[in-house]
Amino acid sequence: MKILAIETSCDETGIAIVEGEKTPNGFSFHILKNALLSQAQLHAEYGGVYPNLAKREHQKNLPVLFEQFANDSVDAIAVTQGPGLEPALWTGIEFAKKLAQEKNLPLLPTNHMEGHLISSLAKDGKIEGIQLPVLALLISGGHTEFVLMRDWFTYQIIGQTLDDAVGEAFDKVARMLALPYPGGPEISKHARAARENNLQSEIKLPRPMLQTDSCDVSFSGLKTAALYALRGKELSQEEKKAFAREFEDAVGDVLAAKTLRALGQTGAQTFVVGGGVAANAYLRAKLEAVVTKEFPDVEFRLPEHAITGDNAIMIAEAALARALYGLDDSTKEDFRAVGSLSISSKK
Ligand code: KG4
Ligand code: ZN
Repeated sequence: MKILAIETSCDETGIAIVEGEKTPNGFSFHILKNALLSQAQLHAEYGGVYPNLAKREHQKNLPVLFEQFANDSVDAIAVTQGPGLEPALWTGIEFAKKLAQEKNLPLLPTNHMEGHLISSLAKDGKIEGIQLPVLALLISGGHTEFVLMRDWFTYQIIGQTLDDAVGEAFDKVARMLALPYPGGPEISKHARAARENNLQSEIKLPRPMLQTDSCDVSFSGLKTAALYALRGKELSQEEKKAFAREFEDAVGDVLAAKTLRALGQTGAQTFVVGGGVAANAYLRAKLEAVVTKEFPDVEFRLPEHAITGDNAIMIAEAALARALYGLDDSTKEDFRAVGSLSISSKK
């Protein structure tokens, strides 16, 4: 089965075609085409993503990207329904609806977070031999959640951020350090330089919610602590690097502790990290180290770096996996963009 997927939930315009098949033990995917246009440079001027600017860019970019796909034949169209910025989501949905109608193909509204989760489970193009339950830590610019999948495609959020998402915290702290948007990769670069040169910050940041008896996290206190610590100070380059390291360490400590708690609570057999922040090399290594040490029997999965950020491959793979599993998500009805769509909501 071949799916063309469209992703426009935030500041990346993505179209991809992925072919998938059911295997005795799971699914296998073959990426046939992938096109991605990032607007990050454009939004950088404003220090964040502006929904109406994103919408205008998606409207401009979609037809241009689609030219490469105009002659391809596929079995279905998938499109991100949410969560995301509604004006941005709508552009993809309208484009997909029109395409599905013209080509008389089924249209599959797909959850962006499920896209992160399912695509992150894949290894060498295959999702095979996965032991349930799966625990996923989804960390992006808009979300931070521990999702438990006890049965395929049935999700329960067992912990989440009470305020800011991890990526958002990275972006905001980067801004305090006068680093460009998106701040995650910038902080990460600075922190790595600090580790390489053994630079330690004199400023110590809190590790919020570490002791609480739940899998929820909170990053607004950390952000505020960073704001107060930096207020009125002009940091040298070295101090900036050391501070970025301290911030990344604080985030890592919190995510690692909560991951261990979540694994202990759920008895999950597989652990996977997904979302844009899963690109962070330090967090990847830290989570892998603590999980393999404390839960050596748990299968640990990380997405390939190239698909950590938003893209259409992940939307195609989620839609394919569902369809190959036998779930019928196709709709002839009108469906809406849902900015706050939860991964745990029923289809
Ligand atoms: O999943 P994603 O591409 O978009 C959303 O769905 O939100 O995630 C984007 C977020 C941004 O906040 C960005 O700063 C963060 O992921 N990010 C990182 C890194 N690369 C991207 N955060 C920390 N370290 C990174 N290397
Ligand atoms: Zn995302």
